[in-house]
Amino acid sequence: MRKKLVVGNWKMHGSRASNAALLSGLREAGPWNADVAVCVPFPYITETALALTGQAMSFGAQDCSAHEQGAYTGEVSAAMLADVGCRYVIVGHSERRAFHHESDQLVADKAKAALAHGVTPIVCVGETRAEREAGQTEAVVKRQLAAVIHTLTHCIGEIVLAYEPVWAIGTGLTASPEEAQAVHAVLRMQLHAATQKSDAMRILYGGSVKPDNAVSLFGQADIDGGLIGGAALKAADFSAICRAAG
Ligand code: PGA
Repeated sequence: MRKKLVVGNWKMHGSRASNAALLSGLREAGPWNADVAVCVPFPYITETALALTGQAMSFGAQDCSAHEQGAYTGEVSAAMLADVGCRYVIVGHSERRAFHHESDQLVADKAKAALAHGVTPIVCVGETRAEREAGQTEAVVKRQLAAVIHTLTHCIGEIVLAYEPVWAIGTGLTASPEEAQAVHAVLRMQLHAATQKSDAMRILYGGSVKPDNAVSLFGQADIDGGLIGGAALKAADFSAICRAAG
């Protein structure tokens, strides 16, 4: 039985004051039966770590460099994330693939850099609306995952995978539980061919997860939790989603 994982992706939201209020709301609402983490903007990682001291909740970042270190102005290395205690890092979010032109290979290299420093990469895959309408959903997510499998080889079992249909992110449109499950099953099969650990790997669903749809999504056989954007910014909503995963 896989333990569910719920991860809040704060994106580029927050301030010291609003983060403190959100984290204290979560401290009061928890603990939950599921594993829970928040992935916060870089400047707030250390304060988040302090606020979560002694709590069961983990924390992480939303991106890292594929490079080890050096003259890469503005980049943050996986070693630095490990140094400040990050458990997770999101890589390959569709917003980075779209707005920062991240390729499948770059995403895979970032996942490799994270694993090399003991930070678990949450690797995002997902199709656009146009790709879904063209019947390319399976081909797109399999291509995105294949790059990671080829790059990580025997370490692929160490990642968390997140299926996030691009058309469902921040739009209020959610894949139906059955639509999401169908893609999760495809991804699990692909992982199964690559590693004996596939049954233990967690595949999260992301895209407009809310308290009122979380139970039905998390009830699907291959949906092992969620990657939560907008609803992760409200303690009541995020904790209700965490409860739904318990
Ligand atoms: P959303 O974002 O929950 O606001 O749709 C999910 C994500 O982008 O990870």
